[in-house]
Amino acid sequence: MGSLQAIRYERGSLQLLDQRKLPLESIFIPIVGPEAAWTAIKDMAVRGAPAIAIAAALALAADLVHKGDGSQFASASEAAAYVQEQLAYLVTSRPTAVNLGDAAERLTKVAHTAAASANATGKSVTADVVQACEAMLADDVTANKAIGRFGAEGLLSAVEQSGRGRGKGQAVRVLTHCNTGSLATAEYGTALGVVRSLAEQGRLEHAYCTETRPYNQGARLTAYELVHDGLPATLICDSAAGALMAAGKVDAVVVGADRIAANGDTANKIGTFSLAVNAAHHRIPFFVAAPTTTLDPNLADGSLITIEQRPAEEVTHYQGRRIAAEGINVWNPSFDVTPQALVHGVITERGLIPKAKSGFAVRTFLEDQGM
Ligand code: MRU
Repeated sequence: MGSLQAIRYERGSLQLLDQRKLPLESIFIPIVGPEAAWTAIKDMAVRGAPAIAIAAALALAADLVHKGDGSQFASASEAAAYVQEQLAYLVTSRPTAVNLGDAAERLTKVAHTAAASANATGKSVTADVVQACEAMLADDVTANKAIGRFGAEGLLSAVEQSGRGRGKGQAVRVLTHCNTGSLATAEYGTALGVVRSLAEQGRLEHAYCTETRPYNQGARLTAYELVHDGLPATLICDSAAGALMAAGKVDAVVVGADRIAANGDTANKIGTFSLAVNAAHHRIPFFVAAPTTTLDPNLADGSLITIEQRPAEEVTHYQGRRIAAEGINVWNPSFDVTPQALVHGVITERGLIPKAKSGFAVRTFLEDQGM
């Protein structure tokens, strides 16, 4: 069976799989212009830190091509200014995932560098920006495959050292949260990529996914991906995770990330922190898997991460029907921050980030990688 893809792009045209309708319906929506991309991100038609960044970039690329391949701009600097303005706008759609801000910064730089070169025109600036946007799709798949390989290796060795597994060479039972698979990325996934890589190596005994209230990314999307791939998998309620661990059914936990601060504190889907506390209590290795574009070396620690608040209706209603008592107050943060002390390893496409007593050495790691 072919791999799942949530982003359909060819030059000048972008379609996004409407993830709000999964798993019951697979409907692609055409995205015409940055405003349509902004709304698709804000309203969760596309979600997941890498996918949000790629969708925004490709919406801009399609818009530039659609409107005339750069011939619509009177000068190179006008083209660069337009690119900068659209990216600054797209970044306001959702605040927590850093991948979008990182992409916007890189693409703005591409535009200004192109505009500063000799004989630059609106067309040449547009060509460079479109090429950089399009490269993000392929780069993300390559990064995810590498995360999968490094993650499987790191996770298997941690399980072996923890003495929890069934012994050397045995398959492992892994718990994951939210959706970090093909639907949250260009393809393959980050934490779910690690699960896929374990399965490819014959080392996955079982995958457990949480339903991930209130938006049910686990029940609707991760369960869908696991079934699609034919992997041995079980869906649990978020509140069953502690009991599952206590029953000795989990050898390791692997989750994704929306932003990882310089010390390794990690913002990810609400409920991640509780899983990490539970894992620590049961001495189960807890891993975070993310591309280096999710690292934010500019933030010293997780207390500085902006956490998105989502509408109360996500909690009080289910598919348009009220399930909570009328008049109740709601607190609905989309993400929480897991302190680095609870994280055994941070897996990236460049390998695992070294950990010292004070936390993960994110800045040194990036410097060592020449990034
Ligand atoms: O609100 P969402 O669905 O965008 O949240 C997604 C997550 O929290 C993922 O774990 C994270 O973005 C990593 S996706 C590879």
